[in-house]
Amino acid sequence: MNTWLSSNDPSRKGELERLATVIEQRPADLRLRACGRRFRIAGFRFRLVQADRNTIYRVRGDYEWFLKMPKSGNREVAVRERVGSSVANRLGGVEGYQASAACGVSEDPAYIITSRIDGETLSRPLYRAALWRKAAPLNLFFSAGNCLAKFHSVPCETGAPKLVRTARTSLLDLLDKAARRDSVVAELEHFVEEVAVSADEERYCHGNFGMENILGQGTKVTFIDFENCGVGSPNNDLAGITSQMLTTTLAPHLDQGRIRASLEAFLQGYQDERPIDKFSLRVLCALRIGADYVRGYCCATGVRTVCGVPIMRRHFGGFVRRCIDGGDAFRKLGDGKLLGSRWTPT
Ligand SMILES: Nc1ncnc2c1ncn2[C@@H]1O[C@H](COP(=O)(O)OP(=O)(O)O)[C@@H](O)[C@H]1O
Ligand SMILES: [Mg+2]
Repeated sequence: MNTWLSSNDPSRKGELERLATVIEQRPADLRLRACGRRFRIAGFRFRLVQADRNTIYRVRGDYEWFLKMPKSGNREVAVRERVGSSVANRLGGVEGYQASAACGVSEDPAYIITSRIDGETLSRPLYRAALWRKAAPLNLFFSAGNCLAKFHSVPCETGAPKLVRTARTSLLDLLDKAARRDSVVAELEHFVEEVAVSADEERYCHGNFGMENILGQGTKVTFIDFENCGVGSPNNDLAGITSQMLTTTLAPHLDQGRIRASLEAFLQGYQDERPIDKFSLRVLCALRIGADYVRGYCCATGVRTVCGVPIMRRHFGGFVRRCIDGGDAFRKLGDGKLLGSRWTPT
């Protein structure tokens, strides 16, 4: 392995080094999926679990690993993954955070190996609670918020890469590409030009902080997928998950009280560590939700779904407008009212 490796466990570290040697013997075959969906190399069992921009394998030796290779071979992904993983590793002793037991990143060839983390992506316990009217996973969401604030508190090193994909740049890119230009698109174009967000302190940001990139078990979370990590405004991370959770208001089958309470617990966990600029958060959420609208209804064909339910364009468009106006989607958010006066994690 030609670059960065982290593990406190010598036996895992030994296996990680052996696995790296195996990968470096045929990196192109692995990244381009030329070995098939299931195969063995040097005693390691590989199973392809994802084949899109990234090729992802689950690998079994004495331990279990996830191997991620950008299909394009892009090294920048690996650089950002290394930065994010090393920041996340510093949360090792933090209450509510479960650091990965071992991790290795190589830039050339570009690949990332992490030991398998027990747990499920955060959306699962949330949707289960909201669907079956069970207790909301408040402790888990509190931990996610609190650990994100601690991630944002890690001092930045000089020369760290900058955040490139922000809520604003993503929306501008999509507006450029939009094939359909309706009245919501026109409002978004106006909004993105007019609205100013106060400059926030520059911190390490995850860069793609959505529920799919947070694994949770019990009350502990682990952050994964740092390929967009960089130094920028932390509000982008907060807006990632907040806009996702607010969008569930469009899914009629989910209990919104439980979702809002979980979001509130997340924001409370964050605020216990770092203040939140609510105005900027609202603006960035509106930009992100606007981007989802343009991506879902103005660039591609087909109907956009929210939590598995198809949502009509008109309906989603109305939601975008309410977000731009700072209407009902944001009212009460972050003021603790949804959880009673102050909720204490248990
Ligand atoms: N260390 C890990 N432990 C458990 N699951 C993982 C691990 N790394 C990746 N995964 C699984 O693989 C999925 C994709 O990995 P991710 O790094 O998020 O790639 P992508 O950028 O393609 O989303 C994750 O959502 C998760 O389900
Ligand atoms: Mg991911």
